[in-house]
Amino acid sequence: MKIIVHIDAAAQWQAALAKALPQATVLTSEAPASERANADYLAVWKAPAHLLQEQTQLKGIINLGAGVDYLLKTPGLPRDVPIVKLRDAGMSELMADYVLYGVQHFYRSMDRYAKQQPNAQWQPQEVVEKSQWPVGVLGLGAIGSHVASALQQAGFPVLGWSRSPKQISGVRCFHGDDALPELLGQVQSLVTILPDTAATKHMLNAERLAQLPQGASVINPGRGSLIDEQALLESLGSGGQPGHLRGALLDVFHEEPLPANNPLWQHPKVMITPHVAAPTPLNEAIDQVISYLHAFEAGETLATVNPEAGY
Ligand SMILES: NC(=O)c1ccc[n+]([C@@H]2O[C@H](COP(=O)([O-])OP(=O)(O)OC[C@H]3O[C@@H](n4cnc5c(N)ncnc54)[C@H](OP(=O)(O)O)[C@@H]3O)[C@@H](O)[C@H]2O)c1
Repeated sequence: MKIIVHIDAAAQWQAALAKALPQATVLTSEAPASERANADYLAVWKAPAHLLQEQTQLKGIINLGAGVDYLLKTPGLPRDVPIVKLRDAGMSELMADYVLYGVQHFYRSMDRYAKQQPNAQWQPQEVVEKSQWPVGVLGLGAIGSHVASALQQAGFPVLGWSRSPKQISGVRCFHGDDALPELLGQVQSLVTILPDTAATKHMLNAERLAQLPQGASVINPGRGSLIDEQALLESLGSGGQPGHLRGALLDVFHEEPLPANNPLWQHPKVMITPHVAAPTPLNEAIDQVISYLHAFEAGETLATVNPEAGY
């Protein structure tokens, strides 16, 4: 079995996979082209097109992350090779931490205290009951479903939304585009953990942002493409016009790194983090990749990426 790894810290991956699979040849994408030929598996994150194009007998591609948007757009991606992606692999817990922080930031008025402090303003803000702070979670996959449960366990009413029907204990689940306005109209904080696909591009456009209640906040650790950036700026307030949204915590952007001249950087209601919401924990990810390789070799049926749906 020949496996080629392409990711930052590929040498660490190479060593771990070689140790777990002593019969396999594990190379990084830095290996000479002649040695890279005829691989059985690629384990890749943001692989260069040539690495995909030069392979002729792949049995599987393992995407070393939860989002497959980059891989599916890479020219030369073979259409007949099954693709699997990391499912949770420790990311959901980190994502839940990030989202809970974001929700609490607005729920406990940290945004307001940050504005008061430069003026030495001692002004307690009202704390409403958590039952009055419903949180919407768009995307109930491996990561989103865990985030929805974590929010529910923290005491917030949670409304979740996905493409197909779901049942998650304590979470009011909605599905399909027609159900979205009902969810949007009720939430104080909206969390977007959807993949970047043709169907989710600008899922939050001006019309949908307008359906959020006055004073709602948006937390986006999913993908930048989910939100129409101009519409978000207008909903937060721009050009002297007050917007109806209270604030946004954004981790992902249309263009990354976010260009220095992007107005989001300077917007007083926006908090920015540089795509760090849920970095992949290495050991859990390696364990999952090893189990994928065993499953491929054993001919087991794996939950593969659906290139048509885009995730
Ligand atoms: N910022 C970070 O550090 C970071 C880290 C990890 C992941 N992410 C992002 O998080 C995303 C989600 O990860 P995941 O592992 O939870 O993905 P996943 O398991 O593939 O789940 C995706 C969820 O989105 C739903 N969905 C997809 N298209 C939809 C549509 N058109 N309408 C309604 N719902 C739709 C799916 O619905 P069904 O359940 O009905 O299929 C599913 O619930 C990734 O794609 C990635 O972009 C970001």
